[in-house]
Amino acid sequence: MPIRLLSVASEVFPLVKTGGLADVVGALPAALAAEGIETLTLVPGYPAVRAALQGGAVVHEYGALFGQPARLVRGQAAGLDLLMLDAPGFFDRPGNPYLGPDGLDWPDNALRFAALARAGADCAAGHIPGVRPDIVQAHDWQAALIPVYQYFDVSGARVPVALTIHNLAFQGIFPAHLLGTIGLPAEAFAVDGVEYYGQLGYLKGGIYFADQVTTVSPTYADEIRTPAHGMGLDGLLDSRAHALAGILNGIDVEVWNPTTDDALAARFDAAHVAARAENKRAVQQRFGLAPDPDALLIGVVSRLTAQKGLDLLLAALADFPRLNAQLALLGSGDKPLEQGFDSAAGDSDRIGCILGYDEALAHLVQGGADAILVPSRFEPCGLTQLCALRYGAVPLVARVGGLSDTVIDASPMALHQGFATGVQFPPDSLPSLRSGLARAAALYRDGDAWSRLQANGMASDVSWRGPARQYATLFRRLIGDCGSR
Ligand code: ADP
Ligand code: GLC
Repeated sequence: MPIRLLSVASEVFPLVKTGGLADVVGALPAALAAEGIETLTLVPGYPAVRAALQGGAVVHEYGALFGQPARLVRGQAAGLDLLMLDAPGFFDRPGNPYLGPDGLDWPDNALRFAALARAGADCAAGHIPGVRPDIVQAHDWQAALIPVYQYFDVSGARVPVALTIHNLAFQGIFPAHLLGTIGLPAEAFAVDGVEYYGQLGYLKGGIYFADQVTTVSPTYADEIRTPAHGMGLDGLLDSRAHALAGILNGIDVEVWNPTTDDALAARFDAAHVAARAENKRAVQQRFGLAPDPDALLIGVVSRLTAQKGLDLLLAALADFPRLNAQLALLGSGDKPLEQGFDSAAGDSDRIGCILGYDEALAHLVQGGADAILVPSRFEPCGLTQLCALRYGAVPLVARVGGLSDTVIDASPMALHQGFATGVQFPPDSLPSLRSGLARAAALYRDGDAWSRLQANGMASDVSWRGPARQYATLFRRLIGDCGSR
């Protein structure tokens, strides 16, 4: 019997994406299908989702949900079985799913995502016709209230909830007076509930009540139990260590396939990496860099936030002439970082910067850069280093979170034994980043070593196959545990 999974998230590729969460939510269902798990994905009815689900079947009318007319609409889009929470007053807004045009959080985010979780909990309880999940996967704070609602509901079926944390930096913290507005009883406002330093903590409540907490790499699962990375939740996470697991992300190897990728100037496979030279020229041209085939072309594709450590890169740019390195940076985010890279690009023909979000250009950078740099201060998993491995761009990464789990450092032994795939350096330190870059440049000059790194990387399995198997095993165990309670 296939298992029916309800996956609840605030983003899904290719319809709505601000980061890796969308990639995961969009790609995991196909991989889980191979493990006998059928996924129904519940997402908010943003404009792109409404457009994709035009003509879908209305399976439930709420009348009002936290003050807004709402209904659940089911349909297929982008190869996914989708359930849309169609609440135009909450979600039919253009642009970023979380931020208004002023760049600030939408003022009603507490209600918007409580509504998403409320709908998820109603599905879990069996209150929605035709929707009978065996298990729920709630992604991040936007869906984290599902196990909280479930705990305080008296009626309905009881199915296990796995809460997957993609990034502890975002916790969904809101004023305590909203407790009643989001339909939780007074007793939920407790240390053993959603209370978090006098406010409502959606993620905190979810971690407390979920049957299982997962995160997106084994190292991050360990790190978040410590004060250095726990962002205030380390104590709670440590107390739930027995129910906390790290499962690495994969990437969609059809979307990221250098042999078929239309965004590339030249397609290639592991036996024809020389064809990458044409992509390198195309990247140099797009980013206004000199067409130097010998320069070490370092690509960055990233949100520009403190998490990603790119302020350190700004400080390390002074080394680029000495290393004969070039930078092609594609990103958007914090204004000071955008301005910093933009003005560095204006000052030097070694530095290229394109501000914005461009999926096709991200593919070209992966296919043309010699290396992809990810100098994060913390990184739950990270996907760009996985894309880099698949595309023969050598990942240069900070040794933290999922970056340390997915890249094998070119230590002399790992190189000699033939399994190194990239360069790691300690996180959050300019000297370490500079020596990482210097080490990468030296390896690049030693053409043989570089070719081996590329070949090992391209031979790595970065697909969802292994991770999907781990999720399937976990989900089956949770369903078994729940059934035997
Ligand atoms: P995070 O989710 O923390 O932003 P990940 O590495 O997990 O980091 O995922 C980032 C995803 O977003 C990747 O698919 C990456 O290619 C993509 N991405 C990030 N910035 C851009 C951009 N400016 N243009 C296109 N794609 C981007
Ligand atoms: C988050 C993390 C990133 C992870 C992604 C998908 O945005 O920052 O490390 O890869 O979620 O799980």
